[in-house]
Amino acid sequence: MSQLKEQLLQLREQFNTDLQVAASSQDLEALRVRFMGKKGHLTAILRGMGALSPAERPAAGQLANEIRQSLETALEEASVVIADREQVARLEAETVDVTRPGLPLCVGGRHPLTRVIDEICAVFSGLGYAIAEGPEVEYDRNNFELLRIPEGHPARDTQDTFYITPSILLRTQTSPVQIRVMQQQQPPIKIVCPGKVYRSDALDATHSPVFHQVEGLVVDENVTMGDLVGSLQLFAKKLFGEQTRIRLRPHHFPFTEPSCEVDISCWTCGGEGCRTCKGEGWIEVLGAGMVHPDVLENCGIDARRYSGFAFGIGVERTAMGRYGIDDIRSFFENDIRFLSQFR
Ligand code: DAH
Repeated sequence: MSQLKEQLLQLREQFNTDLQVAASSQDLEALRVRFMGKKGHLTAILRGMGALSPAERPAAGQLANEIRQSLETALEEASVVIADREQVARLEAETVDVTRPGLPLCVGGRHPLTRVIDEICAVFSGLGYAIAEGPEVEYDRNNFELLRIPEGHPARDTQDTFYITPSILLRTQTSPVQIRVMQQQQPPIKIVCPGKVYRSDALDATHSPVFHQVEGLVVDENVTMGDLVGSLQLFAKKLFGEQTRIRLRPHHFPFTEPSCEVDISCWTCGGEGCRTCKGEGWIEVLGAGMVHPDVLENCGIDARRYSGFAFGIGVERTAMGRYGIDDIRSFFENDIRFLSQFR
């Protein structure tokens, strides 16, 4: 009996020593398992009680119970203290300084050319035009032939391009999208076609081998030059301001008859003549005309019944005017100092 009692007292002592160094809830749990678990020290000692005489058992049992009680209580108390301490530590580690200034968020902006294209398209969408797109790699047929620019035509010289094969090329204008749409759809047709075009021009301040156009096409019964003028007038006012006027000058395009170039009153001086318009008072922004009957017929549209107008807007030229940019190369150099001005 005295040996068992000795063991129990020693156990309690050992437990108390170990408890002093338990620093975390994991330590506590390990301690509990080591002393009070199924294979723990206390269980091992209690097993020895079987060897005691019946007379000794009650006293031994009582002592064992007391000791177990005291270990449990000590564990419980320690666990409250430790859990408390752990929570404080966790909260400290997770502290957020809500007064700290935020990290600057890098927000991109649309490219100036995209902005101008979107604006042009929005104006014409508002007039009921649909947006149509075509491939940049195009057939010679759609880019030239069906637009009345046969092989050897002088207009081909001004639109020299990059050939994939003798009959496939990078389109020099968005006008082939007209062809594609008219081949697939009978009038009424009312579309704008934004996109990239290519010409084998050397790069300088005003020329780039890749640039953008927005093509427009309206085909229906009784479409007249008056409708063209009205639409372009509205476009000019929406894009460049209510005071803007337009002027048509006779010109030649193989795919329109009659054809014109369209100027708008200078956005800087309003028409008086300044540096922006080189003293002219007017700035050319697009080409236009009445769709040539042959072009309609080339696409299976009855030219006796239908007529149409078309126009092609130079996007870079418009954007350079809008933003006062004097070098077309700025659009394509991806210099973030330039681009970040257009937020
Ligand atoms: N495709 C012409 C060019 O690149 C622009 C143009 C002129 C388009 C007159 C048209 C138009 O649709 O009717 O120079």
